[in-house]
Formats: sequence, C-alpha cells, structure tokens
Amino acid sequence: MSEPAPLARGRQAASRPAPSTRAPGESEGAHAHPTWSGTQSEAGTGEAGRLPRHLAIVMDGNGRWARHRLLPRFEGHRAGATAARDCVRACAEAGIEYLTLFAFSSENWARPADEVGQLLTLFEEVLEREADELAENGVRLRFIGDRSAFPRLLRETMDHVERRTADNTGLTLVIAANYGGHWDILNAARRVAEAVEQGEMRAEDVDRSALESGLALSGLPSPDLLVRTGGEQRISNFLLWNLAYTELYFVETLWPEFDRAALADAIREFGERERRFGRTSEQVAVASTDVAGAR
Ligand code: FPP
Repeated sequence: MSEPAPLARGRQAASRPAPSTRAPGESEGAHAHPTWSGTQSEAGTGEAGRLPRHLAIVMDGNGRWARHRLLPRFEGHRAGATAARDCVRACAEAGIEYLTLFAFSSENWARPADEVGQLLTLFEEVLEREADELAENGVRLRFIGDRSAFPRLLRETMDHVERRTADNTGLTLVIAANYGGHWDILNAARRVAEAVEQGEMRAEDVDRSALESGLALSGLPSPDLLVRTGGEQRISNFLLWNLAYTELYFVETLWPEFDRAALADAIREFGERERRFGRTSEQVAVASTDVAGAR
C-alpha cells in the first residue's frame, strides 16, 4: 500500500460550498466535522476535510485477495475481519458517527454451504473477541437484517452485544447481516399496511416518514458516503431506500487491503464532491453562504 495520502487542505472550500451531509427533509443534527481529530497522521488525517457523518461500506474482494495468495477463501474472510476491525477503529478515531458494514447479504446463502458455515463461525468469533474493546471504546453496536435464520448461539451473541453497548455514545457500528434492501423495504411496507389495516392511519397519510420508521436504519441518518471495494460498481441490494442521495465511491482495492490510507482517500474525495440534492450549484452556494453568515 502506498503512503497515506494527505487530505486536500482547503481544496474543497475555496471554490465550492462544503457538501451538506443531510438530504432535504432529513432531521437536523451535529454532523459537520471540520477536521479529523487530533494527530491521526497515519490515517492521512490532521488535514482540513469534511467527514461523512454516516459511512456505509460494501466489503468486497476477500475471495480474490485469498486466491491471489493461493489461500482458501476463508483466509480472505479472516483477513477481511481484521480490515473491518481496523476500519472501525479508524472511523471512531476520526469522529465518524455511523459506520454501516455489509457483512452478509440475504443472497450470500447461495454460496457453498461450507463457506456460509465458516462465515457464520467467523462472525461469532469476531463478536466474542471484539465485544470488550468495542464496549470500552464507546461503540454502540446494532445489527440490521433477518437474524432469525442464524444459529441460536450467534443470535444470542448479537443480542447480548447490542444490549451491552446500547447506551454507548461513540461510533454507532451497524452490521448488516442477512440483510437485503428488498427485504427491508418490504418489511417497512408491511408495517405500514398493518397500521392502515388496524385503523391506526389512513392510506392517504402514508408518507416518507411513515415508511422510513419501519426501515432497518430507522432513526439513523442516511449514509453520506458508500464505499465499495473490490472493483465492482453496483449496490447489490444494500440499503436501497437509504442510498437515494448517497455519494458512491468505488475502488479497486480488495477489502483486506483497504487500510487507513485508502479510507482517507475515500474521505478526501467525498470532501471534494458537491452535494446538491436536486438543487443547482448556485442554490447550494447561496445556502452555504447563508449558513456561514449565520455562524
Ligand atoms: C465479500 O467478499 C465479503 C463477504 C461476503 C463477507 C464479509 C465478511 C467480512 C469482511 C468478515 C467479517 C466482518 C465482520 C464485520 C464481522 P467476496 O467473498 O465476495 O470476495 P470476492 O468477490 O473476491 O470473491
């Protein structure tokens, strides 16, 4: 891996308004982090730059990483788990508020049974091993996806870690496990339909917020940035509703090699993007001047 790339100090600010991290209609919140905190130089930090409030990652490329080394695929997943741990630490240190990792999709059951079994065992091991450190560092863990299909021990570990970290106020780490965007939207639609059926609301009152309250990420802001490693350029049924205005960043780097420098590159590019949410550049510039003037 190359040396950590420094974030582009001041490059975004001069000619462009800073990108908002909130879509129209999304709730207010303290989401603008002016800099990476402290002296995190090895993360390419310490430069002026805007962080995504919510970063989502499709961790792809474990299998190829292993194949390039003539290792079994499982070794790729094991290396991927190490990369995930490092990424969680880097995000927490940087001050990112929400990190959502796509660990197992509802389509991943179609993989060979032994790989699925190894992945589930790995999740269990990782949760057992990392729970203390996550808890001690203020990380709040939340799982999204249909966990009913998982073995009992894994479900219990998930429930336990969630409960144990529920009151933490640091990074919220969301792990998508047996998650699919279609499943998520269908669930939310079903909840709304039930509410209508029971006379709790009228069909004509069903609005965006009614549906969003039934989504897996309910209560969290939408991801500002989606990173997908491994070279593929698709969403793969991840967070279909929530990614409506998310900035997409596709990178060739295989997930086990996605280190702090690679993360810093993604964050820097995010900081250079103009987020318009359907508005014109001129409108965004005026809005950002208004905000600056009000400070
Ligand atoms: C995709 O790579 C990766 C997965 C399906 C599993 C992701 C799991 C981890 C990173 C480890 C555990 C993580 C946590 C958060 C507990 P792939 O196998 O599709 O790679 P390929 O496209 O190169 O074959």
